[in-house]
Amino acid sequence: MVLEPNFVLSWVFLCIAATVSSTLFFFRKKHHRFISKKIQKTKKLPPGEMGLPWIGETMEFYKAQKSNRVFEDFVNPRIIKHGNILKTKIMGSPTIVVNGAEANRLILSNEFSLVVSSWPSSSVQLMGMNCIMAKQGEKHRVLRGIVANSLSYNGLESIVPKLCDTVKFYLETEWRGKKEISLYRSAKALTFTVVFECLYGIKVELGMLEIFEKVLDGVFAMPVEFPYSKFARAKKARLEIETFLVAKVRDKRREMEEEAEKPNTTTLFSRLIEELIKGLITEEEVVDNMVLLVFAAHDTTSYAMAMTFKMLAQHPTCRDTLLQEHVRIKANKGEGEHLTVDDVKRMKYSWQVVRETMRLSPPIFGSFRKAVADIDYGGFTIPKGWKILWTTYGTHYNPEIFQDPMSFDPTRFDKPIQAYTYLPFGGGPRLCAGHQLAKISILVFLHFVMTNYDWSLVYPDETISMDPLPFPTLGMPIKISSKES
Ligand code: HEM
Repeated sequence: MVLEPNFVLSWVFLCIAATVSSTLFFFRKKHHRFISKKIQKTKKLPPGEMGLPWIGETMEFYKAQKSNRVFEDFVNPRIIKHGNILKTKIMGSPTIVVNGAEANRLILSNEFSLVVSSWPSSSVQLMGMNCIMAKQGEKHRVLRGIVANSLSYNGLESIVPKLCDTVKFYLETEWRGKKEISLYRSAKALTFTVVFECLYGIKVELGMLEIFEKVLDGVFAMPVEFPYSKFARAKKARLEIETFLVAKVRDKRREMEEEAEKPNTTTLFSRLIEELIKGLITEEEVVDNMVLLVFAAHDTTSYAMAMTFKMLAQHPTCRDTLLQEHVRIKANKGEGEHLTVDDVKRMKYSWQVVRETMRLSPPIFGSFRKAVADIDYGGFTIPKGWKILWTTYGTHYNPEIFQDPMSFDPTRFDKPIQAYTYLPFGGGPRLCAGHQLAKISILVFLHFVMTNYDWSLVYPDETISMDPLPFPTLGMPIKISSKES
């Protein structure tokens, strides 16, 4: 086995941390009593363990994350012990973990007033300081308005035919004649192409996906720039991408300025350039947000696509019902006729299947916020400056909200779902800006695969790993055969 320098460094770092921690262990109680006393003079902290000094319960969190057992091994045992609001310390930060619809609403809907989103420094450096993920308040509102508007159902109407062509072309060139393919890799390549070709109108060239994946590899890495570290490699790749995108932005700007009489604002890219020309946003903001969207769409959409197929393989009745829905839609289309947004709206059962898949296997299980004021909740105080972790698990797996929560039942979405209980796309002002695009991409992909291919999983019991986003450990290979043959 070849050990990456980054991996070795991480281990050296962990060993040092462990030694220091055990030395400090004896001071632990004193230290925590001191901090608690200081805070408790005025505030009542939620129950919970702060773990070892400095590293806190990071090791337990990472271990659970790596094996995709954050709920089973980290969140749930603590809920059982301490209740729905609890304190811990993760990655050096005192953190409050909150669970439940009421807590989700409080944290997610009070972005900017009580909390702000809190991304690791590596993510912000690699996505760029100017992307909406890193922006707050008014600047966030303006940038999000442009992005979310283009990614709304109405904004996406015009890209559905292009999306169909992209999926058909991909299957034609990458699947035809093959007996086995990696579904997860396919979903990633396709998601990447959809963002570039459908949202930006930029043709994907050979090697582009690999460079982007180098950036994505570093998004959650330790932000240390040792030669060959994941982060250093990611920064180098980011520079390459920046150069490429800046050239594209300047070309597009020139083209649109020359065509000032009839600007073409149908793609998200042209919308961004239009705002750039008006002076409402900067070139850096255009580039950083283009990088962000690739990152935000990539592992999330691909994982949702792959897990939907896994759920269909495990639930043949659901698979039959879903197939019938697509056969009916196909039967109403002429030869070569594209799907429309209305066709996508007709894929009701399929969307329930995808939603149920994301309830059980959310591509993002939750995220961190930072309290910008003391927050009183549930008889406790979340102190200003502390991190807050909200999770989908606290509600997705709660039997009082979703009956028999661990069973796969798409029809549970026949009935409306209580607000802030189903959160694969988050909520509040930071609700996923691309959720409609994700929905359309997944459903269109399902449509063409289900109506053109017979398929089966190569490893029905394939495990899921996390790093830190979940992915099928073996890339979810599937056997395929064209229905035509
Ligand atoms: C199944 C696929 C997807 C899932 C599960 C997902 C999930 C999420 C979640 C949970 C958040 C909120 C994070 C937080 O509250 O801290 C988020 C934010 C975001 N997502 Fe998605 N996402 C998906 C696909 C996409 C796609 C396709 C795009 C665009 C191309 C996108 C763009 C964004 C953006 C820009 C944000 C940041 C919004 C802001 O800060 O205002 N996502 N996503």
